[in-house]
Amino acid sequence: MTVDAVIEVEHLSVKRGGHVVLPDLSLTIERGSVVGLLGPSGGGKSTAIRSIVGVQRIESGTVTVLGLPAGHPELRHRVGYTTQSPSIYADLSVRDNVRYFARILGVANHREAADRAIETVDLTDHANRHARELSGGQLSRASLAAALVGDPEVLVLDEPTVGLDPVLRRDLWDMFRALADAGRTLLVSSHVMDEAVRCDRLLLLRSGRLIADDTLPDLLARTGAADAEGAFLALVEAGVS
Ligand SMILES: Nc1ncnc2c1ncn2[C@@H]1O[C@H](COP(=O)(O)OP(=O)(O)OP(=O)(O)O)[C@@H](O)[C@H]1O
Ligand SMILES: [Mg+2]
Repeated sequence: MTVDAVIEVEHLSVKRGGHVVLPDLSLTIERGSVVGLLGPSGGGKSTAIRSIVGVQRIESGTVTVLGLPAGHPELRHRVGYTTQSPSIYADLSVRDNVRYFARILGVANHREAADRAIETVDLTDHANRHARELSGGQLSRASLAAALVGDPEVLVLDEPTVGLDPVLRRDLWDMFRALADAGRTLLVSSHVMDEAVRCDRLLLLRSGRLIADDTLPDLLARTGAADAEGAFLALVEAGVS
C-alpha cells in the first residue's frame, strides 16, 4: 500500500443476486482528495461503496481503509458513511438523531458537535423537526450531518446531492472541498456527470468496470470531449470497458 493511500481496493469481486456485479475492481484513493465515483445507474457505484465501508459480502479481493480491512471495528469512528437512501430515525428530530449518532461514536461535547454538524448542512432552522416531516433533500442532509458529527477522517457518500437544488449542491461541494483541504478524504458517488468538475479525480464505473480513473482535464484531453458526459460517451463508443 502506498504511503498516502487511504482506500485501497485490489481485485475486488462481488456478486449480488447470483450475478457478478463487480468482476475485478482495483483502485486507490489518496488522502486529502475528493474523488468522484460516477457512472450510470446499475453500474455498481453503491456496491463498490458498500464494499469499502465493509457492509457488502465480497467474493474475493481485498479492501483496505486506513490500513485496516474494510469493516474493521476501529473504522467505525474513522469513516463516515451515508447510504443512498437516508438512514436516520423517522420519529426523532433532526437534532436528536444527530446527537444519537454523536453519542454512539463517543463524541466529546456531543450536543455542540451535533449543532455544528446540523449547521454545516444548513438544517439549523429544521433541527427540531421530526425526520419524517422533512423533504427528500433535507433528509439526505440530515443523514450527512449524522455522518459528519464524529469528524471522520474518511467520508464515503453515496449520492449525497440527489434531489438538492443547485445552490445547496454547490454549498455541499464547497463543504466537501473544505473538508479535503483540512486533510479529510472523500469518495462521493453521483450519476450527475457535471459534478465531475468538483472532483480531484474521477472514477467512471460502467457495468462494474472502471472505464476511467483520471483527473477531469486529463480525461477531456484524452477523449477530446468538452465535458465529463461527453468523455464518458466517447469512452463507451471507443469500446473501453
Ligand atoms: N440487493 C440486491 N440484490 C441483487 N442485485 C442487486 C442488489 N442491489 C443491486 N443489485 C444489482 O447490482 C448492480 C449494481 O447495483 P448498484 O446499486 O451497485 O449500482 P449503482 O451504480 O449504485 O446504481 P444507481 O445509480 O441506480 O444507484 C445492478 O445490476 C443491480 O441490479
Ligand atoms: Mg447506487
